[in-house]
Amino acid sequence: MFVWSKLSGAQWMDAWEERFSGNPNLVIELIKGGKSIRLRVFCESQAAAEAIVERFGGTIRKLANAEWNQAVAPPRPVKVRAALLLTPEVRPAELALIQHAHPQRQIISIPPEMAFGTGDHATTSTCLRLLVDVAKARRGTPWTMADLGTGTGVLAIAARKLGSGPAYACDFDPFAVEVVKRNIERNGTGEIDVHEQDVLLWKPRKAGYDVVMANLFSTVLIEAWPVIAKAVAAGGDLIVSGILATQAWDVFTAAASHGLGFTQVIRKGKWVTARGGHLTDLIAAEAAAHG
Ligand SMILES: C[S@@+](CC[C@H](N)C(=O)[O-])C[C@H]1O[C@@H](n2cnc3c(N)ncnc32)[C@H](O)[C@@H]1O
Repeated sequence: MFVWSKLSGAQWMDAWEERFSGNPNLVIELIKGGKSIRLRVFCESQAAAEAIVERFGGTIRKLANAEWNQAVAPPRPVKVRAALLLTPEVRPAELALIQHAHPQRQIISIPPEMAFGTGDHATTSTCLRLLVDVAKARRGTPWTMADLGTGTGVLAIAARKLGSGPAYACDFDPFAVEVVKRNIERNGTGEIDVHEQDVLLWKPRKAGYDVVMANLFSTVLIEAWPVIAKAVAAGGDLIVSGILATQAWDVFTAAASHGLGFTQVIRKGKWVTARGGHLTDLIAAEAAAHG
């Protein structure tokens, strides 16, 4: 494992995030009282780290695995409403203690690995919050879900813990797919069908899925709307994130042209997460609610 690092002014944070958009291994830390940032990108090969130096300068250092785990470990468990608790803890005895201390919550164990989605990023935690709401509304009826750009598998695993039936999860990163399989095993959430698959080339099954989640970047979402529109079953819920606030208008306008709309939009920092579905369903629900 190699780490590329560079210091920069905090005012350039957005620009750096955009430069590395889609790279789950970027870590940005505020330093010097918030005036500067330390950028780090964790790379599996020296060549990958050198390619970044060639473009952006900075330095490279070889990293021990233990150091990597420490570098990205979330500082505390992530709680989502009263329903979920995400922890990097993997030891069964410790997990049992956490469950004992939080009997009402579903515990999800996601150790920091080279895939996005430990729960502490604003996009993941907001997706989880909306998923808890959707699961509550669907309680007592069977529902299926699809997690597009699954990373660690966190959203699909949470859905299974919250009562979904069989789930589909995909990521185009083969390493993420391996991580998801390990996380499914350690969380005892079978019936998640994981695939190495580019969302843009995916052909969803005809029946679609009752809940579709896609925490992808704006540019990917815009291209993926036709596929996502097919994936959402009639009457289905759609939860999307990974949208920079500055790009939300373009993302939602493009969604509307594929018959998708949003009734709940949450901004956390510079990230936007939204819940919606097929415009026809949303309009029918609105009409029914207002007689
Ligand atoms: C922002 S992370 C979200 C991870 C996780 N679902 C979460 O909510 O924390 C986006 C993930 O989507 C994957 N991804 C990006 N573009 C994709 C595409 N075109 N097809 C499939 N996966 C993609 C990335 O590899 C990454 O794992």
